[in-house]
Amino acid sequence: MGRYILSGSASKTVAKDLSKQLGWPLVKTEIKRFPDNELYIRILDEIEDEDIVVVQNTYPDNNIIELLLLQDALSEAGANTITVVIPYFGYSRQDKKFNKGEPISARAIAEHISLHASKTIIIDPHKKHILDFFRIPAVSCTAVSEIAEYIKNKKNSNIDLVLAPDKGALERAQMASNIIDCEYDYMEKTRISDHIVEIKPKNLNVKKKKILIIDDIISTGGTMAKSIKELKRQGAEKIYVACTHGLFIGNAVEKLLSAGCDEIISTDTIHSKFSKVKIASCVAKILEEKLLD
Ligand code: R5P
Repeated sequence: MGRYILSGSASKTVAKDLSKQLGWPLVKTEIKRFPDNELYIRILDEIEDEDIVVVQNTYPDNNIIELLLLQDALSEAGANTITVVIPYFGYSRQDKKFNKGEPISARAIAEHISLHASKTIIIDPHKKHILDFFRIPAVSCTAVSEIAEYIKNKKNSNIDLVLAPDKGALERAQMASNIIDCEYDYMEKTRISDHIVEIKPKNLNVKKKKILIIDDIISTGGTMAKSIKELKRQGAEKIYVACTHGLFIGNAVEKLLSAGCDEIISTDTIHSKFSKVKIASCVAKILEEKLLD
């Protein structure tokens, strides 16, 4: 029995890195569209009785369909185990019902993925309880230490303070500050709507300080831009913003830069020009430890 990596279209870099680090070959696939735009996928290698790790984001929507088809094909072809690695778990922010009549979207997606999977690994899920939505063993790993190491090793960064843009991200800020060896704190955020957030001017003693703001997701950039502006107003010297999942929707990047951000750092869960931190090594570690236990 061998171990193989199968790359979905959304996560080719992570899949390739995993294959290289673990020495597990990539499975050959054919992925194309029918004339009506429906997806066609086919597994070209013989994978009966093999242990397969399929790597795919559930973002944007079409990648969810691709993942489900890949899993179905793997199951049809008789894979021994199917481990699903989800670098960015899309729909994770609807992790509960905020209003009557809403679905729990993260659970709906998780349940479908659980149908043909043995295990799943998610990188920095928005909330830990999302793992419980899977009907199979689900674990997470975080890219915070990789991000913190990146910034620590950066010439002249000398971060004085790591900040979470809201209380929910405080654990990340604390973890990063431990590695960087500096202080940490959080800002007080209130979300007004999907596009508007309010950051309260909490007194943080940031004058002349070099600050790293760390979050799991940068989407519209609203949260980070508001935080940057408030910190600049309070006299911060330099501001780095970092996230695991850089969605950078619309003019998010312009918003961050015009707010006064000195550098944007993201991982490669979603590929962009800010993907300066690779996440494969933290996944590889889990795969080596957990795949066949
Ligand atoms: C929310 O709880 C998340 O952790 C992020 O803070 C949020 O998704 C960022 O969104 P945006 O960039 O649109 O403000």
